Order: sequence, then structure tokens, then C-alpha cells
Amino acid sequence: MTGSTPAAVVILAAGEGTRMKSATPKVLHRIGGRSLLGHAIAAARATGPLHLAVVVRHERDLVAAHVADVDPGALIADQDEIKGTGRAAECALEHLPRDLTGTVLVTYGDVPLLTGDTLRGLLDSHRESRSAITVMTAEAPDPTGYGRILRDDSGAVVGIVEHKDADERQRAIREINSGIYAFDAATLRDALARVGTDNAQGEKYLTDVLGVARADGRRVSAYPCDDVWQTEGVNDRVQLATLGRILNERQTQRWMRAGVTIVDPATTWIDVDVTIGMDTTLLPATQVLGATTIGRDAVIGPEVTIRDSEIGDGAQVRRAEVHLARVGAGASVGPYSYLRPGTDLGAGGKIGGFVETKNARIGEGAKVPHLTYCGDATIGAGANIGAGTIFANYDGVAKHTTVIGAQSFVGSNSVLIAPVTVGAGAYVAAGSALVADVHPGQIAVARAKQRNIDGWVDRARPGTATAEAARAATRHTGDSGDAAREGA
Ligand code: UD1
Ligand code: CA
Repeated sequence: MTGSTPAAVVILAAGEGTRMKSATPKVLHRIGGRSLLGHAIAAARATGPLHLAVVVRHERDLVAAHVADVDPGALIADQDEIKGTGRAAECALEHLPRDLTGTVLVTYGDVPLLTGDTLRGLLDSHRESRSAITVMTAEAPDPTGYGRILRDDSGAVVGIVEHKDADERQRAIREINSGIYAFDAATLRDALARVGTDNAQGEKYLTDVLGVARADGRRVSAYPCDDVWQTEGVNDRVQLATLGRILNERQTQRWMRAGVTIVDPATTWIDVDVTIGMDTTLLPATQVLGATTIGRDAVIGPEVTIRDSEIGDGAQVRRAEVHLARVGAGASVGPYSYLRPGTDLGAGGKIGGFVETKNARIGEGAKVPHLTYCGDATIGAGANIGAGTIFANYDGVAKHTTVIGAQSFVGSNSVLIAPVTVGAGAYVAAGSALVADVHPGQIAVARAKQRNIDGWVDRARPGTATAEAARAATRHTGDSGDAAREGA
């Protein structure tokens, strides 16, 4: 291999993760919209390796299926009953070509903040120092539990001692092993064959490879990483939340630097695969999740959750839940609305307050402003759907479609009983229960005729305040209701 491209990256993910106290394998827990393992794979892929292997054992099938899902090109290497990081690396080598030469990077499946840039820095340093092994190290404020880097008087790295195997003097060392390394492939293979399990945990330690190679006269170096978070692993749910928050801080800062206004970064959550255009504003308590794309000059929030959706330039979304939906340029949504999968709101359109939509194509400039359920519908450009309209799409057995033509007007509190079509430029009278198609230019009046019955209050509710009010009103005006119209 030439340059800084590794021959292989090996991701260790066979451990149990018991401290998570979870039926879900640790590496499948998520932060920033990706599994911990997904983060590790993304960083590994960024280095452009020839091979990528993930070592599995605990909940092997679940983890392997997840790897196949996020990275079908990755190899799955099963670890056997021999324990330890060294054995894990050895099992990975068995799945890689026997004659593999060049650099092998080893990293963990539970270190989600590590970036491809940092791995590339490790590779560059490894190549420039012409080392057989380069270990990434960090200065830990509290090094308890970590392997410590041992150096000789000249400062050269001579090995790593695990916390459990370290003496008092070694435990005072603050420079810790991150568990991320660059190895010369042949050195790694050769040294692993000579590493035993004679230690406090009875495991085959990958860390022992450094001492073996050093004793063979090979050059072993350290690559200090000054960003401690990138070497931090997740062992329990407290660390999961902490790293999730740090990752989110990095995402919000990235977007603010790219020209997005974020009023309250602490309550704004942005997944790693999101993109946001310049001069868009995110208001407090907003979550932008999954593969969501937001255009420029949009205003999102407060209290909005958007997942796997596309929001156009200049759109406004307030206090809403939006999932697998598209909101066109200049359109507005909310407050208090729920856009479900398949909602497609055209440019300049409106989904107002207390509206639920699903599988609904709403044309350019069309409006569904108040208190509506709109499912399985196509609404033409410029149409107006009155307050309280219900698209009755479900007959108890199957879903049916409603089509509303361009520039049509549906009166308030109508029920559109699908399948039904309202042509372009048609009206539906308020309070209609529509069962038959309406043609262009028609008005449909689908409700009972109004009847007014004279003197009913006096006869049926004598002596009530209502009857008194009726009497007083007729005394003043002489209007007994005779002139009341028979409503349409
Ligand atoms: C390991 C290092 C330690 C380092 C620390 C950094 C060894 C012996 N020790 O310790 O020097 O400071 O990481 O976090 O390497 N794994 C397997 N198979 C196994 C055991 C572990 O795949 O048999 C995987 C785990 O899933 C995990 C990683 O290797 O992703 C580290 O394992 P863990 O048990 O957490 O190692 P530590 O004891 O923390
Ligand atoms: Ca660990």
C-alpha cells in the first residue's frame, strides 16, 4: 500500500458490554442518529481501506446483520472462545488475505466520536516515523482502568501495561492507551502468535504485541491525541448520554459555523446525516433527525421534530412532528400539526394548526389551515380546505383516495368519503358529507335542508330562561320567526 491508505481496518466489537444492562448489544445503541458501530465504520471507511473487518461474538447475529445493513462490503470475523483484544485481532487476520502487507488499523466499535481525520493523522504519523506499531494515546485526568503507556528514559515507547496488571508506580502514569493503533501487518501477525494469556484477566492482550515487537527491535511509537473525547468509549448509559451530548455539541457548532442560526444549541439536536442551508434558523427544542435536508432561509421550531424529511428554502415549521415528508419552498406548517409519511406540501402551501396528514400531495399554494385529517389525498394547486374537514379514507377494510382539483374550495366541517373526486374550480358546501364526485364549476350541497319550527321553545321549554329571552326578543321586534328563511 502506498500513501496513507491502510490495507485493512479492524473494528473490535465482540465484547459483551454488560454494564449497559440491555437486551440490545452495546455497539447497536445509538447517538446522533447512528449506532456506535455505525460511527466506527464511518470513521474507518473515511481512510479508504482495502478491507474492513468487524470482529463479533456477543449477540453475533444481531451485530452481523447490522453491519451488513450499514456496510455490505465489510467482512464479519467471528471470535472464538479465547478472550481478549489480541485474540479478537488474530481472528480478524484469519479472515483477511494471508499475504496481506501494509498497515492494519485497529479500532473499537464503542468509540463513537473518533473521526476519519484522526485515523488519517495516525496513519500519517505511523508512515512518517517508519514505525512497526503506532499507538494512539491520550492524557487522561483519571487514568483508572486504562492501559498505561510505558516509556524508557529516552522517551521511546517500550510497551503497555494494563491497569489490573500495573504496579503503583505504573498506575501513576497519566498517558493511556486509547486502544486505537496502526500496525505493520506482518509484525502484528508474527507478534500475536507469541502473545500468551498469563495476566490478571487470563486474556490474550493486544497490548502485549507492543512489548514483543519492541523486544524484536522493531520501532514502536505513540501518536498523542489531544481531543480526549475521540478516544472515549461507551461502557454504560451515562457515558452514552455524555458522548451523545458532546457529539451534538460538535454538530450544532459545525452548522453554526456553516451559517445556520441556532438560538439554543443545548436543546437543539441534529443527527450526523442532516444537511442545513445557510441563514436557516433553528429555534429552541428542535430535533432534526435521520437523513433530513433543510434548505436556506427556513425557520424551524420551536418544538419541532423532523425525521428523514426534506424542507425547502424559506419554509416555516412551528411546533410540529414531521416524518418522511416534504415541505416545499416558502410553505408553512403548524403550530401543532403532524405530517406523516408521504406528505408532500407544495411550494407556498400551508398546513396550519391541528392538522394531521398522511400520503397527501398538497399542491402549490394550496391550504389546509385548521383542524383537519387529510389522508390518501391529492389536492390541486391553490385549493382551500375549510376548517374541520375530514378526509374519510378508511372504510374499515381498505384505504381509498380523495382528489381535489386546483383552485377548489371545500367548506368547513365537511367529510369527504373516499373514493371521491372534486373537480377543478368546484365548491363543496360547508358541513357536507360527500359521497359522489363533483364536476368543475359545480357546488355540491350534501347535507339535510334546514327547518325552523315556530314557537317550539315556548311549547317544549316553558318557564325557562330561554323561553323568557325568546318572549322578550319577540316583544321588542315583533319577530316571531315567521320571516326566518328556510335555509339551503
Ligand atoms: C482495552 C485495552 C487498554 C485500553 C482500553 C481503551 C487491552 C488488553 N486493553 O482495555 O489498554 O486502555 O482498551 O479503552 O487491549 N473486544 C473484543 N474481543 C474481546 C475483548 C474485547 O472484540 O475478547 C473488544 C470490545 O468489544 C471493545 C474493545 O475490544 O470494543 C475493548 O475491550 P474492553 O474489554 O473494553 O477493553 P479494556 O479492558 O477497556
Ligand atoms: Ca472498554
